[in-house]
Amino acid sequence: MRILVVGGGGREHALCWAIAGSPLCDKLYCAPGNAGIAQDAECVPIGADDVERLVTFATENAVDLVVVGPEGPLVLGLVDRLEALNIRAFGPRANAAMLEGSKGFMKDLCTRHGIETAAYGRFTDAEAAKTYIREQGAPIVVKADGLAAGKGVTVAQTVEEALNAVDEAMTDNAFGDAGAELVVEECLDGEELSFFAIVDGTNALPLAGAQDHKTVGEGDTGPNTGGMGAYSPAPSLTEALEAEVMETIIMPTVRGMAEDGYPYTGVLYAGLMLTQDGPKLLEYNVRFGDPECQVLMMRLRSDIVPALVAACDGVLENFDLRWSDNAAMTVVLAANGYPGSYKKDTEIKGLDAAAATGAMVFHAGTTSDGATIRANGGRVLNVTAHARTIAEAQKGAYVAVDAIDWPDGFCRRDIGWRAID
Ligand code: AMP
Ligand code: GLY
Repeated sequence: MRILVVGGGGREHALCWAIAGSPLCDKLYCAPGNAGIAQDAECVPIGADDVERLVTFATENAVDLVVVGPEGPLVLGLVDRLEALNIRAFGPRANAAMLEGSKGFMKDLCTRHGIETAAYGRFTDAEAAKTYIREQGAPIVVKADGLAAGKGVTVAQTVEEALNAVDEAMTDNAFGDAGAELVVEECLDGEELSFFAIVDGTNALPLAGAQDHKTVGEGDTGPNTGGMGAYSPAPSLTEALEAEVMETIIMPTVRGMAEDGYPYTGVLYAGLMLTQDGPKLLEYNVRFGDPECQVLMMRLRSDIVPALVAACDGVLENFDLRWSDNAAMTVVLAANGYPGSYKKDTEIKGLDAAAATGAMVFHAGTTSDGATIRANGGRVLNVTAHARTIAEAQKGAYVAVDAIDWPDGFCRRDIGWRAID
């Protein structure tokens, strides 16, 4: 098969690495890719959101399967366009990608199909949102409806803070069009858990558990990021909890989306809060988590390509994936200053020494001029280790991190602490 992966981050490097290892893959492209991905795939200089050129490229290069990494092109309808040309595409169509593209859409789906989620209101008027906030009191959560690159959520401890979040989104337009509508919702309490399943329109196959660390600071403090590290398995995801989440959240979503006329295919990534009343849905993402994908690919023992094809073809029933019994951990190296402003184009050394420790370094934001590897983003490298336990994987990941010579970068030193202490 001729396969195109869309995206250029650590998630796409992990996907390319897994797909390149499949005997079914004859040719692998990645658009736009990065310096690390170039070792596994031919990088094509087309942006992940450039739907027109991606469609043209897939057609002209007789691509058999397109695997879409990020949410942007999914919401823009890349899968719809490819399907219309009879090119298999892994990921939801635009109308189903609304599960991530509109938090209000996701909340209304939950209401229609009896899926547990925080009580909420949807608002296009700032004064109406503020009245609701004053009625409900704090703590309360204010969310931009649309895609805001992980920045559109305020968990407000006071009414004042929530009112400010409304102004930020609706008056200051901090999130552009994404903040023109708001969801204001009940603040849930508990432990968070990410849950991943591959869906084919009707059937859903749960993947191994994985957990990320969203905030930039050690001890899970400070501003939110795209994710500073991840590990798999997730000790809180027991077999009983997996069954409960499948029965009360994932399958009602899959059936509900099909009933409502938006059949869902691709990865369904549920952000859950494990409350005293059971798991509740915080949000859906319509793609693999980044960096959770990196640890999942590290533990996947089956060929991933047949699973992706089965999801596209609607034949996931009775499909099985094998996972290693071991644990995997990835530590994100980010540019100093991230998630605020940071320097680009700084030189990274020691990648060979890191690889020599036995770890896998997935690239998230790098370029190469042939001689040197340079940083080209906020999250830059994902240093990933695989070992018997989470604690050993943590040791392995940090040994490899310490072999990397990049004074312009930093990482959290406590990835996995919740699973180890
Ligand atoms: P989201 O992008 O919707 O997952 O929100 C980002 C983060 O905000 C989540 O990972 C949670 O930590 C927090 N959050 C979102 N919604 C709620 C809620 N209803 N109650 C408490 N925390 C929340
Ligand atoms: N790691 C969080 C995300 O991919 O959204």
